[in-house]
Amino acid sequence: MRIILSMLCGLSPGGTGRSELIARDLHKGTYKKGPDQMKLAFVGKGGSGKTTLAALFSRHLATAGLPVLAIDADINQHLGAALGLEEDGAAALPPMGLEIDRIKEHLRGTNPRISSVASMVKTTPPGGGSNLIRLDERNPICDRFQRDVEGVRLMVTGPFQESDLGLACYHSKVGAVELLLNHLLDREGEYVVVDMTAGADSFASGMFTKFDVTFLIAEPTRRSIAVYRQYKDYAREYGVRIKVVGNKVSSDDDLCFLREEVGADLLTWVRWSPFVRAAEKGRPRPFSELEPASRKALQDMLAEADRAPRDWEKFYRQAVEFHVRNAHRWASAAAGEDLTTQIDPDFLLHPDLQPS
Ligand SMILES: Nc1ncnc2c1ncn2[C@@H]1O[C@H](COP(=O)(O)OP(=O)(O)OP(=O)(O)O)[C@@H](O)[C@H]1O
Ligand SMILES: [Mg+2]
Repeated sequence: MRIILSMLCGLSPGGTGRSELIARDLHKGTYKKGPDQMKLAFVGKGGSGKTTLAALFSRHLATAGLPVLAIDADINQHLGAALGLEEDGAAALPPMGLEIDRIKEHLRGTNPRISSVASMVKTTPPGGGSNLIRLDERNPICDRFQRDVEGVRLMVTGPFQESDLGLACYHSKVGAVELLLNHLLDREGEYVVVDMTAGADSFASGMFTKFDVTFLIAEPTRRSIAVYRQYKDYAREYGVRIKVVGNKVSSDDDLCFLREEVGADLLTWVRWSPFVRAAEKGRPRPFSELEPASRKALQDMLAEADRAPRDWEKFYRQAVEFHVRNAHRWASAAAGEDLTTQIDPDFLLHPDLQPS
């Protein structure tokens, strides 16, 4: 039945392709790093399952031997717990949002266009002299904020308030993630998974343009679909690649509803999961006991990540575009200087740049 429904919905069979080869080569020690890394966002209506699926997907990658950085950028910090951390372990994670000046200080490096840490805002793009980050090399940011949880590297922004969101938040805590993503140099075979705030809050800045694939988690409900439509409308002009992952699907009728409402954007779906529910009861099971149907959905997501194209030029161009917009709307006035001069016209972000 599962196969027939997959065919009806026009989905390709799961298969990890590139990632399987990378995992094999990593294991054999013959892995040669190439230029691509995938940045993946988990978005959707509140309670749809963003955190749950971000955690399952991250563990799926880690179990396959693939390097994965999971970032909790949500208002409510639950990703650590969903990955299996106890409450005190989750509370002990160093919050990036509370140490954003430390992050800015490092990323700014010797970039002469950024006059001070105070004038560096969340959209400030890298330029000549900026410190760029590679996840597989030691750097002060990963050393300080990254923790290993079940083979997944985890970073968290820390808890923040609704008032921390929005265009006018000069020292936005979630801005730490945007700054990091803007300064990340990629390597093939790395995956960056970001658990985002519910709804469309990420549109307040350029955050939603930072990803190669945006997984929109949708329950088979009208409210979930409304969030999907809103996201799609807003993201359209920026070429954001949105793939819907149905969640808590409990009947064929649920599936047909999603198929009708979402059409070709429906990538795959996860059924109501006893594995997830057991963890919610405080009785987590080994990851090997995840239901095959849920695992198949994770494989579909990985295959999608692997086939998504990367466009460095577009990534950097959009980063600059959002910075100019932010500078004109509020940031230059707040900083007391014209922040568009932070843009380095001679700089191009590309994977062969050396981290300084
Ligand atoms: N496939 C599933 N099967 C069973 N329960 C699920 C499934 N997916 C999510 N849940 C449950 O639904 C609830 C909400 O999930 P989750 O916290 O992942 O949603 P969220 O979108 O991250 O929410 P928020 O918007 O609050 O961050 C949790 O109790 C979780 O255990
Ligand atoms: Mg969540």
